[in-house]
Amino acid sequence: QYLLVTIDGPSGAGKGTLSQLLAKALGASLLDSGALYRLVALSSLKRGIAADDVVSLSETARQLDVVFRPEEGTTMLEGEDVTQAIRAETVSMLASQVAALQPVRDALLERQRQFSKGQSLVADGRDMGTTVFPEADVKFFLTASSEARAQRRYKQLLERGEEVDLQQLIADIEDRDLRDRSRAVSPLRPAPDAIEIDSTNLTIPQVLELMLSHASN
Ligand code: CDP
Repeated sequence: QYLLVTIDGPSGAGKGTLSQLLAKALGASLLDSGALYRLVALSSLKRGIAADDVVSLSETARQLDVVFRPEEGTTMLEGEDVTQAIRAETVSMLASQVAALQPVRDALLERQRQFSKGQSLVADGRDMGTTVFPEADVKFFLTASSEARAQRRYKQLLERGEEVDLQQLIADIEDRDLRDRSRAVSPLRPAPDAIEIDSTNLTIPQVLELMLSHASN
């Protein structure tokens, strides 16, 4: 029998790292749904589609020619390695705009569901447990304080040699949270049956252990 686990939550709570570790520990595949929104954004930039051209954006989402190569950790768009390109700040910004469009979300729905067919899956996103996989076996909602999330992002940016202001990062994260939770389309919220984990004062191995204890019984 296949196991379906969802991990939802705000930006910077550690979903990316935890979903990778959990998938590995469970021998499951991984769906990074945020990458799909990023790919729609990147593809539309390449094609010169305007951020408000809903018809072309949802068409782009429907036709997305993407291959995830989990062994290599790479993402291919139309045969091109875009692993780094989809993490650029311009792409992040546009991804959050296209993610607020219902037709784009609808266009990605079936593609996301296909990932759970014939294999165990850990799905990482915002609406995995609520909209995409309401039937999931185990649902997590992973959070952390805005300070903790900003600190983590700060460290990542420093490692990449980028100078940033911590207070500004905290403010940005709180802005983004408010937008994610109050948007009309798929607002960020835990599924009624989700297990909430606050990772503010927990290490990554501690969160993993907690998740495994729920997922393996
Ligand atoms: O971690 P971060 O928020 O920077 O990015 P992400 O998880 O890769 O998601 C990229 C964008 O897609 C964000 O603006 C999310 O709000 C949105 N998204 C979404 O609406 N639904 C999902 N299932 C996953 C991501």
